[in-house]
Amino acid sequence: MKELVRELTEAYGPSGHEEQVRDIIRRHVEGSADRVEVDALGNLIAVRGPEGGRRMMLAAHMDEIGVVVTRIDEGGFLRFAPVGLHDAAILLGTRVRFADGQVGTVSHERRERGEKPELNRMYVDVGATSREDAGVAVGDVACFDARFVQRGSRIMAKALDDRIGCAILIQVLQDMGETPHRVHFVFTAQEEVGLRGATTSAYAVDPGLGVVVDLTEAGDTPKSHGTAAELGKGPAIKIMEKGTLTDPRANALLERCAQEAGVPVQRQVARWGGSDASAIQVTRSGVPVALPCIPARYEHTPSEMIDIRDAEGCEAILRRLVMSSLDLD
Ligand code: ZN
Ligand code: CO
Repeated sequence: MKELVRELTEAYGPSGHEEQVRDIIRRHVEGSADRVEVDALGNLIAVRGPEGGRRMMLAAHMDEIGVVVTRIDEGGFLRFAPVGLHDAAILLGTRVRFADGQVGTVSHERRERGEKPELNRMYVDVGATSREDAGVAVGDVACFDARFVQRGSRIMAKALDDRIGCAILIQVLQDMGETPHRVHFVFTAQEEVGLRGATTSAYAVDPGLGVVVDLTEAGDTPKSHGTAAELGKGPAIKIMEKGTLTDPRANALLERCAQEAGVPVQRQVARWGGSDASAIQVTRSGVPVALPCIPARYEHTPSEMIDIRDAEGCEAILRRLVMSSLDLD
């Protein structure tokens, strides 16, 4: 799993520009799926199981947050707008990378003492000597530039949100046996800018059950918000986030699969956050959803951190789930 996570997290894939990530995923799922297709928004959908089977949707998003160039100053400095949710204080001083590999540093106009950093006073400097020399156009998008690091079971990388979910889905598809269900593995586009890929793909798939794998903020760092999820204690089954109330019957099904697989799980209730589950839940006449999450520190930074054992546990749960009876009661 680690090599796959390295490959996926180091790839370039801000919202709307998921093609590199999609190509990697396609390469890994092609041999195991009955059908692979890409829709108009760029969602990759890999289907496995008999045509008449009950439709299940497993989803993870391919995109990561980034910055889009809005204007290029005469001196070659790139003004930008955020793509997805950024904390200005965290973005400042990081490196970002464009699709062609060009790297820039994020800096700020002179600040008075005590002034907080503001996104609209920041710029990217790629080392260009002039506007003409910048080699970047308005509309070009950059993501964080950071390498994958591993220490024991801990992993630090950019875009673990949500390439870890993609890695889990790939492995479930590769390792699963025969299933009576029509299982749709959906690698969604544009989650970070409003759950857009999940919205259209859930409509197309029309599932009887939706399961979304994503990160959730752990509460185990110094003076954190202190919610229940901790790294290394198993996937966190999210009961609530700001955008979603997950289905208690679907959660019970996940917990049953976890028990059978001998995997510890945690439960988490959060007042914040949204995920593809919010979009899938309100598709057509409504879809029961579950949201098994990987506890993570430092989400939306170049150094998101997880414990790989939580991802392996999640994979084991889902491998059972795709074979289980889907009668929710
Ligand atoms: Zn995410
Ligand atoms: Co995110």
